[in-house]
Amino acid sequence: MCGIVGYTGKGEALPVLLGALERLEYRGYDSAGVCVIENKKLFLEKKKGKIRELVRSLLGKKILGKTGIGHTRWATHGEPSERNAHPHTDEREEFAVVHNGIVENFLQLREELQKEGVKFKSDTDTEVIAHLIAKNYEGDLLEAVLKTVKRLRGAFAFAVVTSKEPGRVVGVKEGSPLIVGLGEGENFLASDIPAILPYTKKVVPLNDGEVADLTPEGVSFYDFEGNPTKKEVMLVSWDVVSAQKGGFKHFMLKEIYEQPKVIGDSIRGFLSKETEVDLRNYRRILIIACGTSYHAGLVGKYWIERFVRVPVEVIYASEFRYGDYPVGEGDLVIAISQSGETADTKFSSSMAKERGAKVLALVNVVGSSLDRESDFTLYTHAGPEVGVAATKTFTTQLTVLYLLAISHLKDYEELLKGILEVPRLVEKILNNGEKIKEVAQKYQKFKNFLYLGRYLNYPIALEGALKLKEISYIHAEGYPAGEMKHGPIALIDDKMPVVSIAVKDRVYEKMLSNIEEVLSRKGIVIGVGNEDDEVLKKKSKDFIGVPRAREELYPILTVVPLQLLAYEIANLLGLDVDQPRNLAKTVTVE
Ligand code: M6R
Repeated sequence: MCGIVGYTGKGEALPVLLGALERLEYRGYDSAGVCVIENKKLFLEKKKGKIRELVRSLLGKKILGKTGIGHTRWATHGEPSERNAHPHTDEREEFAVVHNGIVENFLQLREELQKEGVKFKSDTDTEVIAHLIAKNYEGDLLEAVLKTVKRLRGAFAFAVVTSKEPGRVVGVKEGSPLIVGLGEGENFLASDIPAILPYTKKVVPLNDGEVADLTPEGVSFYDFEGNPTKKEVMLVSWDVVSAQKGGFKHFMLKEIYEQPKVIGDSIRGFLSKETEVDLRNYRRILIIACGTSYHAGLVGKYWIERFVRVPVEVIYASEFRYGDYPVGEGDLVIAISQSGETADTKFSSSMAKERGAKVLALVNVVGSSLDRESDFTLYTHAGPEVGVAATKTFTTQLTVLYLLAISHLKDYEELLKGILEVPRLVEKILNNGEKIKEVAQKYQKFKNFLYLGRYLNYPIALEGALKLKEISYIHAEGYPAGEMKHGPIALIDDKMPVVSIAVKDRVYEKMLSNIEEVLSRKGIVIGVGNEDDEVLKKKSKDFIGVPRAREELYPILTVVPLQLLAYEIANLLGLDVDQPRNLAKTVTVE
């Protein structure tokens, strides 16, 4: 988590750094800071809270300098405070470091440095990097950085500047994301592409174990031994506009409304090239992912088992990594991750690869670590997703998983027709936004929610509950409706809204019985079903309709009203929808 940025060039560094930090704020927003080299001195400014606090504190200050680094923090070591905000410096304030990730052996390094008399100013792991670089410096920043990284353990990316060599920024990647942006007479470093999009579309993603040495004139790349590495330049197809709000109140709302388009883009993207992966060639498939991507994996399991008839296990990446899952040759691991940088997913998939499994990454960010480190990649074409709550990346993940599952079937053409209809059907649901707003009005003050579904809509119940929890801070549970009677039904009373997904699929009748069980305990049913379903309408206190579709495609439809419901409730509660508390968009720590 945390966002880092670096700039060196012909322009003034400060506005570039602040703009880039705003676009990286989704990665963390506990504190922010910048360091600009001004007249061979480091100028530092840090503030607790969001970037706007930092911007406020800089108002009226004239800071001129053409090189600098910046940081937006998601706290790991040390509470969110000004003292722990980055950049961190050495004692003489000649070296400044911004860092994303964790230096696992920082306590040992800290003790070692303290024994040598070094005084620490913060509780962070980052500060050891600044002191070590200062200690190792003998006139060449790159040399000092290379010596320092050999002492660090963990997953991290950092950028460093020194007043001794104005005009130079050195960046390091080991486990956390870092990209270089190539401009004309200026170069950039950042944790993610949107940060630098207004300036350049030429991007070079760094691999783990690489260092980038930036000056305004050019960028050189090295491995940790100091050997030059060859890099390819990637041209980004996103534009700046697609990373902005476009008239919507929040990114999340804009991203929900983009779904018809990006589902279409993802279908076209999938169809534009032959799939390298034939799922029938594997004895077993493991899907590893976190959060919303994990829920996409759960739906994928149903599709793959139904269409391909290969057994699928879906495992939280954080559990897979330290479990004893027998994985090896003959297995396919599908690693699903919007960012392609989630630490748990990344480390788990490389572990599976080492043990002989093939890894297929399903990512949204081209050039992300998972994309580069996997045997095969499939892309969602969702464009940049800024809202912390995943929405359009979920429905596009589903779209690609569905296409993958059907791609080698005899009746492929027929099944394809179904999914080609989905963008239009999602559009129809979005046109019903006012109704969902009304439902949100009614239920915004409730303290607990249950979400029920069965079969393909069970993962959607989980996803609906996750959306509500993460942006509205209301307690919500997703549950397979048939399991209710084994315990959770005890929770039902007349204060419990139960969002019940009951579309006309193979479990429709079963869902109706489960809804009866809820009603007879006075639960408040919010039905999500087919728009022409008069039976469900009668059973529901409130009803949200979705159009008819092929049974297997319903999850891509039923999730949309649940995203909107969560959004509207959080918005009515006046919460920070795009940057909910305690969260970050990309979780690059374990
Ligand atoms: O980038 P990833 O898809 O790997 O991210 C996984 C989760 O961190 C992510 O889905 C998270 O749960 C979202 N906040 C959900 O809205």
